[in-house]
Order: sequence, then C-alpha cells, then structure tokens
Amino acid sequence: MRQLTKDTLTDAVLARIKDMKNPRLKEILTSLIKHLHAFETEVQLTEEEWFEGIKFLTAVGQKCDDKRQEFILLSDVLGLSMRVVEINHPMPEGATESTVLGPFFVHGAPEFEYGADLTKNAKIEGEPTWVTGRILSMDGKPIAGATIDVWQARANGVYDIQEPDSEFELRGRVKSNAEGRYAFRTYKPKFYGVPTDGPVGDLLRAMGRHPMRPAHMHLIVSASGYQQVITHAFVSGDPYLDSDAVFAVKDSLIADWKQVDSPEEAKKLGMPCPFLRLDFDVRLSPDVGVKARQTIAASDAVAAR
Ligand code: BEZ
Ligand code: FE
Repeated sequence: MRQLTKDTLTDAVLARIKDMKNPRLKEILTSLIKHLHAFETEVQLTEEEWFEGIKFLTAVGQKCDDKRQEFILLSDVLGLSMRVVEINHPMPEGATESTVLGPFFVHGAPEFEYGADLTKNAKIEGEPTWVTGRILSMDGKPIAGATIDVWQARANGVYDIQEPDSEFELRGRVKSNAEGRYAFRTYKPKFYGVPTDGPVGDLLRAMGRHPMRPAHMHLIVSASGYQQVITHAFVSGDPYLDSDAVFAVKDSLIADWKQVDSPEEAKKLGMPCPFLRLDFDVRLSPDVGVKARQTIAASDAVAAR
C-alpha cells in the first residue's frame, strides 16, 4: 500500500504485523499502535513536541543502571504500576492487599533470626520499633516457615542502595515461627520523596506534583501453597496518605505504630524504653496457580539487556 494518509496509515501499520507468530505480543502491539496513533491525533502532536518526547524517553533510559530504574519510577508516578498490580493481583476479600514493589527491592537480602535487630548497620538513627505479626491463612490458621522480605528507607528518606558502596540497611529476610509469628527490630519509617534528580523529577515538576510517599515499610511474604503478596505497612496519620506520588495507598494497609511505655515489656524484648510497636498480620490467599508477581530489581533490567 502506497500513498498513505493519516486516515489509512494506522491500518497499514497493523497490516504489517498481521502474521506475527506470538499472538499475545501481537495483541499488545496492535493496541499500542492504535492508542499511540489516537493519542497523536487527539493532541495534534507537533514535531517539536514529538522530539521533546523522544528526548525525555532517551533521558529516562540513560538514567537507568543496576541500582536505578527510572522506567519503573515513570510507570509508578503515572499510575501504571498500580493498575498492573490491581488487574493482576486482585486479592480475595480478607487477604492482605498488594501494592507497588517500587525500585528499591534487592534480591538476596541477609536472613535474620526471629527478633533480630535490622538497625545494626543503619547509618542514621530512627525511632526504635518492634515489628511483629502473624502470617495467617484466610481462615486464620498460622503459617509456619513463611519468608518475610522487608525493606524501608532510612530515617532521612534515603534507601541504602541509593548510595554507592552501601551495606544492607533496614533490610532483611525473616521467617515465621511455628505459631506463624515473625518479629524484628527496626526504625519507624518516615515519609520521603521519590528520586527527583532525573527526568521523572522534571516531569513531576512540570505537572506541578510533589514527589512524596507516605511513610511505609515494604514486605514481600511468601509461603509454599499460598499466593505471594508484595505489600506495604503504611504509618497511620502520615500527611501524604491522600496524595502518595505513586498512588499505592490502601486503607487496609494503614497501621498504628503504638508507643510502649512498659519497662518490663522493653526489657523482655531487649528494646529501649519507651519504644514503638507495630503489629502487622498478613493473611495469604491459597495458591490457585496465579503467577507470582515479578520482583524486579534495577539490576535485573540491566542484566536482561
Ligand atoms: C518505594 O516505595 O520504594 C517507591 C515506590 C515507587 C517509586 C519510588 C519509590
Ligand atoms: Fe519505599
């Protein structure tokens, strides 16, 4: 087909992929092409604007390395990551809800024993917190031997891996015991801003949006026979709960960090007095063959190139 016009060009592009071998990829590309063309028509894209877009996407790619994933961040601030989570992991009523993974997950964090202190390497002090809870099935049975992968930002809002040559801080894997209970010591998380020193930061500024995320601790809970859940525990009362830069807040994930003033309790747990305590139970739904969510770390995307 020659002499294409804006009215015939979309069909011409689609005709070129009609024999694609991979049906799912064909479906995705067909939709992408249609939406891209419709978008260009709707906004009547100028050449200058199109080139600005190309420069922006180039800068997003150039900002990525084995520690920084600017594309995930872009997807997060545009709400795409949360939509993908929602349609792929609708948790049944009563199971702990999923939310974004974020770009600061790292594979192979150290394993700790029940009650371990995750603040040992922490460069910045925070408010000492005893985190505990039970891993349960939906009918309330304790799940022993579940793995709980946790990570959070330092008290200054920066993750360990955002600094060169850092050690693991406030990050680790713990197991639930025979009663399904897990426990560890950490600091109370604080709200922080997603990285704004790259093109996604420029985009947020252009949109007049703040980059803040409400304080949270990340958890990935996995147990054999159950669906893995990638989630957060959000701090109740946080000023950014209603305007999370990445749209990831769920009411069911908001929890209280309660102050404990009892010297006996502090002594029993090896905590200073007073200290904070978070009780956070996680209910897992049965494994019904749903593919586990991909825990993509920045290094995976670079390695896949
Ligand atoms: C995070 O919570 O670690 C995070 C999530 C999305 C974007 C940036 C950070
Ligand atoms: Fe985070």
